[in-house]
Amino acid sequence: VQIAHKIAAVTGGGSGIGAALCRAFAVGGARAVVVIDRDADAAESVARSCAGNAVALQCDVADAGAVDAVISDIVARFGGLDLMCSNAGIATGAGLDATPETWRRAIDVNVLGHVHVAQAAIAHLLGAEQGWLVVTASAAGLLTNPGDAPYTVTKHAAVGFAEWLAVTYGGRGLGVSVLCPLGVATPLLMDPLAAGAAAATVVAASGEILTPDAVAATVVSGLADESFLIVPHAEVARFWAQKARDPDRWLAGVRRLVDST
Ligand SMILES: NC(=O)c1ccc[n+]([C@@H]2O[C@H](COP(=O)([O-])OP(=O)(O)OC[C@H]3O[C@@H](n4cnc5c(N)ncnc54)[C@H](O)[C@@H]3O)[C@@H](O)[C@H]2O)c1
Repeated sequence: VQIAHKIAAVTGGGSGIGAALCRAFAVGGARAVVVIDRDADAAESVARSCAGNAVALQCDVADAGAVDAVISDIVARFGGLDLMCSNAGIATGAGLDATPETWRRAIDVNVLGHVHVAQAAIAHLLGAEQGWLVVTASAAGLLTNPGDAPYTVTKHAAVGFAEWLAVTYGGRGLGVSVLCPLGVATPLLMDPLAAGAAAATVVAASGEILTPDAVAATVVSGLADESFLIVPHAEVARFWAQKARDPDRWLAGVRRLVDST
């Protein structure tokens, strides 16, 4: 699928990977780019930084009614929706000590956020000529993030949900992709890394830290290839294959990595 002339929207568009996706879609000739974020000022400033027709809309993806309203607003303004990136997500840095509130917020944003977006957007995407939904999960959804239990669990759920959508709607004209990066230089990773947090330190030790623009470029080429699984870090595909081949050996390797960081 190509970006040119598409009406594209990105949740979590106010920072990091989402902001880079918005800019890449604008440069790629999208008819409209909608920057959606919980943080209205951040969304506004990304929309201003985009070439072409970009607008900012405020929305917390954990709120089903708010997501529904924002998608209706997009369709009312632009007459449809072609490319929806459900990208907003949060890390917790917590292990077994995570409170029920931390678990609930991670589930609300990292799992139900995608469910709300799909529920609101799929009818419009199915009505588009070549509608496409991109779910941002993480390498933690294929492998594990040793320092963050709620993140690992919710990202596995996001991969599962994207796969379910692809199976259920893929034959009906809806494209689905799932984005699974390892470390990316955004506040989500770099702020805890600067503070010496264990989860971020292990991610940084696991592979190269890519720029958000490099990840956005991989998404654009993954969409052009119409790939389901978009994995910007080559090492993630390698680790994932190793895990499938020999789970015990892969687990031993991850434990060694954790012990050495
Ligand atoms: N940075 C990494 O290393 C990395 C790696 C793999 C996956 N990811 C995933 O990529 C996605 C984007 O992360 P990022 O690294 O760009 O982080 P980021 O913190 O730079 O950006 C996330 C944006 O999402 C917004 N947001 C958070 N919760 C929201 C909510 N409930 N509703 C609406 N907006 C919300 C934030 O305001 C922020 O603007 C996330 O799903 C994250 O889990 C990041």
